[in-house]
Amino acid sequence: MRRHEGYLRHLVIRTGTRTGEVMVNLVTSRYDEARMAELGAFLQEQFPEVTTLVNTINSRPAQVSYGEATYTIFGPGVIHDCIGPFRFEIAPDAFFQTNTEQAERLYEVARELAALRPDDLVYDLYCGTGTISIFIAPHVRHVVGVELVASAVENARANAAANGITNCTFVAGDLLEVLTPAFVRTHGRPDVVIVDPPRAGMHPRVVRRIGQLRPERFVYVSCNPQTQARDLKLLRDLYRIEAVQPVDLFPHTDHVESVVALRAR
Ligand SMILES: C[S@@+](CC[C@H](N)C(=O)[O-])C[C@H]1O[C@@H](n2cnc3c(N)ncnc32)[C@H](O)[C@@H]1O
Repeated sequence: MRRHEGYLRHLVIRTGTRTGEVMVNLVTSRYDEARMAELGAFLQEQFPEVTTLVNTINSRPAQVSYGEATYTIFGPGVIHDCIGPFRFEIAPDAFFQTNTEQAERLYEVARELAALRPDDLVYDLYCGTGTISIFIAPHVRHVVGVELVASAVENARANAAANGITNCTFVAGDLLEVLTPAFVRTHGRPDVVIVDPPRAGMHPRVVRRIGQLRPERFVYVSCNPQTQARDLKLLRDLYRIEAVQPVDLFPHTDHVESVVALRAR
């Protein structure tokens, strides 16, 4: 690997806990059609529980399981899973909580702590495949979700439509560039902001923009309480913490998901 040679890079297996669907994603340095066809036939014969095989190409040195192109070898190229009454489509490179049962609990906690009202406009930032947006949509007037990964945004739109949800808008882009005064003029000033950033937390400029937006209620969902605390310190003068609720999303590890509910001072 150090010489950046070779073919196989990663094997990712994702399962839909509540649908039984299984996706095998082989990440390779290049596309080899004949090899993939052979592997596809082998998997279908030996492991009929595998519902789709995809091949992500990553020729760059970075040790990551997403890449430049994804080929669907057999099956639909996506899997589905259910949270609450909703069914979600999950693309190979889209984020989806790995613990489905506890994700449901997490979203319930976020929904309760957001103290949602039927006329609320909610921003769901770092929305992934739109799971939180769709989960809360029946309880509010409108949800605007923002997500960096374009395929996840496509999933989010498809998920909303498939679940009969019509009051969500999904926007693709980096929050650092997307969350501007023009964006707020277009979509409206939110009553509630829910964020669920990756482990690295939020860019300080995005945190400050939320402070300028001054939503009455702000719910910060985090898989890394350290960066969560760092980010929330920036809003100390503008928001007070109302509740902190950990959710054990990663049992038997020292990781914990943390939900913090804040109110504008
Ligand atoms: C922890 S996941 C949360 C997804 C979703 N809320 C859920 O529960 O399934 C974080 C998401 O933030 C997205 N993301 C990371 N950096 C971003 C950025 N700068 N702008 C917008 N989205 C970003 C990632 O692609 C990922 O989907």
